[in-house]
Amino acid sequence: MATAATSAPINEQYNYDIVRKFTIMTLVWGAIGMFVGVYIASELAFPFLNFDNPYITFGRLRPVHTGAVIFGFGGSALFATSYYVVQRTCQARLLSDGMASFTFWGWQTVIVCAALGNMMGYSQGREYAEMEWPIDLLILVVWVTYLIIFVGTLMKRKQPHIYVANWFYLAFILATALLHVFNNLSVPVELFSMKSYSLFSGAQDAMTQWWYGHNAVGFFLTAAFLGMMYYFVPKQAGRPVYSYRLSIIHFWAIIFLYMWAGSHHLHWTAIPDWTSTLAATFSIMLLLPSWGGMINGILTLSGAWDKLRTDPIMRFLIVALSFYGMSTFEGPMMSLKDVNALSHYTDWTIGHVHSGALGWVAMITFGSLYHLVPRLWNTQMFSLRLINVHFWLATIGVLLYITAMWISGIMQGLMWRAFDDYGNLQYAFVESVAAAHPFYIMRAVGGAFFLAGMILMCYNVYRTIRQGSTETQAELAPAAA
Ligand code: HEM
Ligand code: HEM
Repeated sequence: MATAATSAPINEQYNYDIVRKFTIMTLVWGAIGMFVGVYIASELAFPFLNFDNPYITFGRLRPVHTGAVIFGFGGSALFATSYYVVQRTCQARLLSDGMASFTFWGWQTVIVCAALGNMMGYSQGREYAEMEWPIDLLILVVWVTYLIIFVGTLMKRKQPHIYVANWFYLAFILATALLHVFNNLSVPVELFSMKSYSLFSGAQDAMTQWWYGHNAVGFFLTAAFLGMMYYFVPKQAGRPVYSYRLSIIHFWAIIFLYMWAGSHHLHWTAIPDWTSTLAATFSIMLLLPSWGGMINGILTLSGAWDKLRTDPIMRFLIVALSFYGMSTFEGPMMSLKDVNALSHYTDWTIGHVHSGALGWVAMITFGSLYHLVPRLWNTQMFSLRLINVHFWLATIGVLLYITAMWISGIMQGLMWRAFDDYGNLQYAFVESVAAAHPFYIMRAVGGAFFLAGMILMCYNVYRTIRQGSTETQAELAPAAA
């Protein structure tokens, strides 16, 4: 991997300012998004928390949560790390500082408008794409600018080779543009209410939405974070990627297979049966490259396993890979029609989502940012002990969360399909709601653990930044004297 090639100060050679800004916003959105997550989890356990106030009801806050964590936390982390990785591995400064700054302000505006809009009740009713058309247009402009910057920087590279992490990031940027445009094709009907209706209807509409939704998972929450993994795991381990060839096979297989699997979100609905079967087949095939990638990441540690005893950052990265392996095993199983008949509509899906989102996406982000922050502010992390405490809070949190959801999900599925001797349903729906109550409390407690770790990280990074600027001032003082 690249090291600085010229003797120019690092801040002139690379644009770190934009990476710092996105890094800080990753933490801000992480804390906000997870706080809202804990709040809606508590609303499900104790509905009085809705306070009969439309702005904070579960229905409105849920997309605020998903938007803040996926696009605010995850998106900012991807902007930060992709801008860092592309510069370091290409030994080139970003194509344009002004355009990069535009992506920062544009993206933050999108997240704020989406959150406020959702609370006020504006929504297209498409999951992960709730934003109405004016925000969609802004997303499009920001995203195309991001693409131009990324490709432009790749073209400026001083290395003949394009490091594999950049392939993953580029695929994520391109795929997101494609998904966003097609899923949001709609007819605006009023300017001031900002209402619009999808261009598609019925089953086609559902299939377009889940082609989008699934690939948002595949490219936003998976491929891009694999780019992060391919840079930060070898860096932190101080070893090259276990198999570069496997990383290329991993890349092409993932890119090809994900696109076809979306209809597994629509099993047993009005879509043609063959599309369901096709999606299940591609989902099962996805297991192979997913595990290939996980094994490639984990084996990168060969010969450096002892680091796990002393390095809490490495622990974050390895646990993230383990959760990646687990959720990409669970996903293909859930895509089988018979298994899905049990899991769909239940909390099992929510457990799967968060074993991917907390275990994989958030953990790999924490590990990567703990590696990145001291380098950006030219200092050491303020406290390794706090990183360790964060690691345990996050691990206990995610385990509580997903265990609670697995139990309540499978219980719901079994209760809903139980019949008595006369062929009547054995349980009323409300009995399954009551039975889930203790597990909803357990999930909220797990979420609170995870959130506490996130807040600890914000504090640790804040102290690191202060320490960095004090050290810089101390270095500059004798020079100025
Ligand atoms: C403190 C941590 C978190 C808590 C307590 C939490 C809680 C929740 C709750 C209660 C829901 C609604 C579940 C339902 O409708 O039954 C939800 C949905 C969701 N959350 Fe989280 N969440 C957390 C972190 C995250 C993170 C970090 C991500 C992504 C990176 C994420 C992604 C999602 C997604 C995608 C959904 C929608 C799932 C679906 O529709 O199937 N969450 N979360
Ligand atoms: C090989 C990999 C994977 C496959 C085949 C897969 C498959 C599935 C299936 C079958 C469902 C349930 C659909 C339903 O019943 O509605 C699902 C839901 C979901 N999965 Fe995965 N999954 C995989 C990996 C992941 C990963 C790594 C993440 C997160 C980072 C993730 C995030 C989600 C989300 C957010 C949903 C809920 C979507 C919604 O209903 O809102 N998946 N996945």
